[in-house]
Parts: sequence; C-alpha cells; structure tokens
Amino acid sequence: MLNKHAGIIATGSYVPEKRLTNEYFEQIVDTNNEWIVSRTGIEERRVAAENEATSDIATKAALRALEKSGRTAEEIDLIIVATVTPDMAFPSTACIVQKNIGAVNAAAFDVEAACSGFIYGITIAESFVSKGAYKNVLVIGAETLSKIVDYTDRNTCILFGDGAGAAIISEVEEGYGILSSYIGANGSAGELLTQPAGGSRLPASEQTVRDRLHYIQMNGSEVFKFAIKIMGEAAEKALSMCGMKKEDIDFLVPHQANTRIIDSAVKRLKISPDKVYVNLNKYGNMSSASIAVALDEANEKNLLKDGDVVVLVGFGGGLTWGASVLRWKNSGGKQHV
Ligand code: ACO
Repeated sequence: MLNKHAGIIATGSYVPEKRLTNEYFEQIVDTNNEWIVSRTGIEERRVAAENEATSDIATKAALRALEKSGRTAEEIDLIIVATVTPDMAFPSTACIVQKNIGAVNAAAFDVEAACSGFIYGITIAESFVSKGAYKNVLVIGAETLSKIVDYTDRNTCILFGDGAGAAIISEVEEGYGILSSYIGANGSAGELLTQPAGGSRLPASEQTVRDRLHYIQMNGSEVFKFAIKIMGEAAEKALSMCGMKKEDIDFLVPHQANTRIIDSAVKRLKISPDKVYVNLNKYGNMSSASIAVALDEANEKNLLKDGDVVVLVGFGGGLTWGASVLRWKNSGGKQHV
C-alpha cells in the first residue's frame, strides 16, 4: 500500500493571562531588565493561575485547533501531549485532555522530550497518518513551567513561561504537508538540564523539598553552546532528508529559548530575519509549547503562504533535538487542506 501524505491541517494555541515582567524579577532576585533583554531577548512571560494545570491550557489550545480543522472531537484517533510538566505522573496529560474534549475514540499518551517535544510529537503523528493507521492525530505541546521554576535562582527563573500550542495532523494532498522529520538525542549530556527529584531515582521526601530538588536545574552556558551547534545542524539534516538545502527555506519557526541562539541559527542558515518567527520577548521559553505557539501565531497572522517551505527546529533537555520540513498550504487563510 502506498504511503499517504501527512500534514498539519490546523493549529491552535493558548497562553495564561497573568504576565510576569522583567521588572517583577528585579524585585525578587539580583537581576535587571537590561541584563535579561540583552542576554536572552525576553521582556515578559505568562504564568498559569494556581489552580490551572497543564491539561487545562492544553485543552484550550486543542479546542482552538479542533475548531479550525473542521473535525469533531470524535474524529480524533490519537492524542499526543508533549510536556515536562504533566498534571501528575499518571494518568497522562493526554488522557486528561481526551476526557476534557470528549475525544472518545482517541488513544492517548504523553511524550517527554523537553523543548523538542512538539517536534517529537509531530514526527510520531506523521508516521501513524502516513501509514494509514490513523486519520486525525492531535499533537499538543503544553507546559506550566512556572510550577517547577525556582524563583530564588536568577540563572533560571527569568527564562521560562507557560503556554500551550496544538496541531492536527491529517492526510493532505501529495507534495504538501510534512516532507521530512529528524529527531535525535544525547543522553550522556542529560545532567546539563534536569528536574532531579520526584521520580524513582529521588522520590519526593522532606529532604528533596528542603534541597530544592523539585525545581529546574540548568548549566546555562553549556546548554547554550549545544543549542548554537545543533539548531543549524538539525535543520540542515531534515532538509537533506527531503532533498532540500538551506536556500529552500521560506519560513523558520525555531524553539524560543534565547534570541542569541536564534540569531546564530539564522546566520548559519543564511535566512533573512524577517522570515523567522520570534515571540520569546512576550512568552520566554515555554519548552515543548514554544514552537507550537509560534507556529499558530504565524499561521494566524497569515505569514505562511501556499507552497512555502516551513522549517520547525528545536533543542532541549535530554539532551534532545529535532527539525521538521513542511510544505505549507492554507485553506481559508488559516489552515492546510
Ligand atoms: N541577572 C543577572 N546576572 C545573571 C543572571 C540574571 N538573571 N543570570 C545569570 N547571571 C550572571 C551569572 O551568575 C554569571 O555571573 P558570574 O560571571 O559572576 O558567574 C553571568 O551572569 C554570566 O553567566 P552565563 O551563564 O555565562 O551567561 P550567558 O551569557 O550564558 O547567559 C543564559 C545565560 C541566558 C541562561 C544562556 O546561557 C542561555 O540562554 N542558555 C540556554 C538555556 C536554554 O536554552 N535552555 C533551553 C532548554 S530548557 C528545556 O529543555 C526545559
């Protein structure tokens, strides 16, 4: 049987209402707006309410994507939620979203690949749809990182924000959709970015709480060096997998961690900055939600034209990385067909 062609037919996103500005951080840690903006590009980020969990914002993003897709919740065959901040260890956040949206016919599971999670998710979805196993797969990148950020650590607390982005992957016409996807990992450098406690290695205890081991710990400069190298490499690898070169890129949606990391990828890929979507000034690093939210915003602003070669590229804890090459097609200005 011939493979089908899988593509993103609709996108959606949601960010919590509450904003934390750089001025807020000036009051709680030894930092300042000038340092944060010049070293990261971040001006503010969104944070979930106390009673708002990852599944809540994931559900809102999913419902927006579903509405634009013209599909019903019952038509969704599989839900994949990429997250490092699940509501709880189990049930999976994907199962909670399945219940919330009434996708009664969907299988559901979570994927954990940190900031590369959304690309891991659409890579899995593409495989199911192109093989004909499933018709409609809902992929969500959703995080409430504010729940695991140490607000006494100036090295990390200024970087992260909360949000959710969703995409529906279905069959599309030949020549469009996901042309290639490349994902990779290097577990031997995993200690550069961790949330040490709360799992089977260090179960939650009074000691782990006292030692602040339930918060994100990061070696920022080493992650930075890795990111600079891998962003360009991963994008070029995914392009080569579908017979393309960096000159073919029409639009780049990079992981939103740091403008200096994005700038270095832009330089290596020799792409004009006006073809690169950047929103990290508004949201900070939302891990697996970053690319998903950026893609939805670019789509909503009609920045993606029919036939555009759109590259998604990201890196994250694990360490992990990934890139996808899409041939975009709009329908009604907002979605593929
Ligand atoms: N305000 C003021 N000074 C600060 C702050 C702050 N908020 N944070 C760190 N500093 C200080 C450091 O203490 C250090 O001071 P020292 O020289 O006296 O020790 C100095 O600034 C420089 O620190 P560096 O770490 O070298 O700064 P760098 O230029 O590397 O920027 C940053 C730090 C922004 C964290 C950068 O390394 C970075 O973006 N790294 C990548 C992080 C990332 O992308 N993570 C993504 C994965 S997240 C995931 O997967 C969940």
